[in-house]
Amino acid sequence: MSVWLKGIAAALALTFVASGPLDAAERKYEGVGRTPTAEEIKSWDIDVRPDGQGAPVGHGTAGEGERVYLVKCASCHGEFGEGGGRYPVLIGGHGTLKDMRPEKTIGSYWPYASTVFDYIKRAMPFGDAQSLTDDETYALTAYLLFMNDVIEEDFAVTQDNIGTIEMPNQANFFMDPRPDAQPEGGTACMKDCKDKIEVIGRARVLDVTPETGGDTTEGAEAAPAEEKTEQVAAAETGDPVAGRSVFNKCKGCHVIDSPKNRVGPSLHGVFGRAAGGVDGFRYSKDFQKVGDAGLVWDAATLAGFLTDPKGYLGGVIGKEKANTRMAFGGLRKEEDVRDLIAYMKEASAE
Ligand code: HEC
Ligand code: HEC
Repeated sequence: MSVWLKGIAAALALTFVASGPLDAAERKYEGVGRTPTAEEIKSWDIDVRPDGQGAPVGHGTAGEGERVYLVKCASCHGEFGEGGGRYPVLIGGHGTLKDMRPEKTIGSYWPYASTVFDYIKRAMPFGDAQSLTDDETYALTAYLLFMNDVIEEDFAVTQDNIGTIEMPNQANFFMDPRPDAQPEGGTACMKDCKDKIEVIGRARVLDVTPETGGDTTEGAEAAPAEEKTEQVAAAETGDPVAGRSVFNKCKGCHVIDSPKNRVGPSLHGVFGRAAGGVDGFRYSKDFQKVGDAGLVWDAATLAGFLTDPKGYLGGVIGKEKANTRMAFGGLRKEEDVRDLIAYMKEASAE
């Protein structure tokens, strides 16, 4: 059976279980299909719940799991769960959930260990789903939990303890209390509520994803100035040595220590310079518009631009995405931006 058929079969099994024993005559389904046998239901009914209910008998440790992992999983997910190509990352990402681009893994995001077992048992290895034994699945679960610092290396995961392993992000999952907690009639706000909400700016223009925390309760008008100081401060805390290697991504197109243009304009003296301000460099039309709009490069504007070049410049000139010729998608990590700017500050000085 293909992965998808198995998925459908599993969904059907859940329906049967949820609606109790199926009485064909009573439901007027006579002549359609047949009552599944207890064996069939058993093979479909493989879900394992957060509290461990439904977990089959078995056990496995990280050491055992590693051996299976290297043979059956590493080709797609990477030897260290780092994810190969577009295959999901399975390990790491701790503390990134509030980042601009959170890395959601078993360790950083998943609320229940049982889901690891259930998912692997149901769907992996991709293309050969449900080929693993229960012991192999327990061992793989143990290996992935160990690699994510959730359990110790010699801890054996079993049907008895899978429902009790506490996951790092578990507390951030909770039952949505709505609609019970939401009073009818839209009077949910309890204090200091605004009378009327008015849209006064677009997220991109305001650059609302701040480099560091901080809620601007003063209202959105105050945000750019406040964020600017925060970003400048952030740039000053960056590590120029680490930033030098981030600049390797730019080097092919930009010279920073002398006024020489390459594919991109020289970044020598870029701090304090108007965008599009290098004489003799042929900027794209949109870039000229950004310059005309008065954008000047400093730590804050560079941080916005380097994180999302097209979106950021678009915000300045009122488009969704600017048509810049800079063929660069943006840096993903806040830390890289901070380090890079610290490096650029030193290296671009005239
Ligand atoms: C042929 C490639 C391939 C192999 C081999 C493979 N996987 Fe996967 N795995 C995937 C793909 C693709 C997804 C995403 C599936 C989706 O999102 O529908 C995935 C998703 C996962 C996830 C969920 C990740 C997440 O955060 O959403 C886990 C856990 C996982 N695989 C574990 C394993 C284990 C354990 C093995 C070895 C038994 C394995 N995989 C083998 C391709 C593979
Ligand atoms: C593939 C080539 C390429 C890469 C890689 C690249 N840039 Fe650019 N960059 C350009 C081009 C071309 C422009 C001019 C864009 C335009 O005219 O639309 C530009 C413009 C800029 C500007 C505006 C300069 C000015 O005079 O206003 C800055 C700042 C900048 N890039 C920094 C960087 C940094 C930092 C990196 C690395 C993280 C980087 N770029 C990566 C090609 C590149």
